[in-house]
Amino acid sequence: MKILGIETSCDETGAAIIEAKPGNKKVKLLSNIVTSSLILHSKTGGIIPEIAAREQVRYIIPVIKKAIKNCKLKIENLDAIAVTVGPGLIGPLLVGVETAKTLSYVWQKPIIPVNHLIGHIYANFIQRTDDRKQKTDGRKTDKSDDAEHPSSVSSAIRPPSSVLSPPIFPALALIVSGGHTDLVLMRKHGSIKWLGGTRDDAAGEALDKIGRLLGLPYPGGPSIEQSAKNGDPKAFNFPRPMLHNNDFSGEARPGSAWDFSFSGLKTAVLRHVKIIKQFSNVTIADLSASVQQAIIDVLVVKTLKAAQKYKLKSILLGGGVAANQKLRNEFQLKIENFKLKIQLSVPPKYLCTDNAAMIATAAFFNYKPIPWQNLTANPELYFDDVLQ
Ligand code: KG4
Ligand code: ZN
Repeated sequence: MKILGIETSCDETGAAIIEAKPGNKKVKLLSNIVTSSLILHSKTGGIIPEIAAREQVRYIIPVIKKAIKNCKLKIENLDAIAVTVGPGLIGPLLVGVETAKTLSYVWQKPIIPVNHLIGHIYANFIQRTDDRKQKTDGRKTDKSDDAEHPSSVSSAIRPPSSVLSPPIFPALALIVSGGHTDLVLMRKHGSIKWLGGTRDDAAGEALDKIGRLLGLPYPGGPSIEQSAKNGDPKAFNFPRPMLHNNDFSGEARPGSAWDFSFSGLKTAVLRHVKIIKQFSNVTIADLSASVQQAIIDVLVVKTLKAAQKYKLKSILLGGGVAANQKLRNEFQLKIENFKLKIQLSVPPKYLCTDNAAMIATAAFFNYKPIPWQNLTANPELYFDDVLQ
């Protein structure tokens, strides 16, 4: 079965083709094209929805065409179309959804709506063979190249061989992106339960806002990671919000132990920024390293705690912030140090940030086509608990 995935929830325009057979534990990536209007947004220090939507309109057809051409796909051999229906920005979402509906009608192919957040989890179900031939078209920012490439990983902890094998259920997914920080329990495909999430800013959003405070280029996540390499993570003692919230009473609802909060961190940094006034590169690096460490500590400790409490066999990372090497390393180190029998699954970095391969993959494992007439974009879409 071959599925065309389409992703346009924010500033990335993505199209990808995956192939898999029923019973497969991972899918094969045949083609993966991502372009981004990030460079335009970096000038304004944040995403302007109107501009993001216009860029989606400009590039959706060329990106889909290129994805098809790259793997020499004949439309008669395509089995289905998968598209992100939410959450995201309404303008960009509509571009993908309406394009997918049109293609479904014209090509007479089934269409599968995909929740973007579930999509991030499914980046863990794509074979990690050498699919890095898949490049962006180089038009704008090229986000496909992955610092995990064997030649550039020398100073990092190499991913353990376990990440190459399919994730084992029951699993815990940590989705950390620009808009979301969520912990989700997954018993099997199609069986999920939301455990908790951020009460205010998402981890990526906090990094983006703090990056701006520190005068670093947008987006803040990768800029802070870069700057932190020369900094001392202990230089500033930033708060670790809700780290030891042990309120299990509400289980998976607000008040639960699995919630996060990152907006206070931004205020704490702002307080320092106001006091310091004059910044040296060393101070910026120290602030970056300390903030990054605070966020990582919270994410790692809470995720591992949840994985142990629910006796889960694997942890699946997903979302743009999961591209952070320090975060990936710390998860691996803690699992090893505490001798936990938990498999860590981490997608290659170019599949952590937004892409259409994860959308097509989610559709393969949750194959529920609907009539194209019923497909609608839903910017507010969240997790529907489907625990079977
Ligand atoms: O998943 P994503 O591409 O888009 C959303 O669905 O939001 O995530 C984007 C977020 C941004 O906040 C960006 O700063 C963050 O991911 N990010 C990173 C890194 N790369 C992207 N954060 C930390 N370290 C990185 N290397
Ligand atoms: Zn995303």
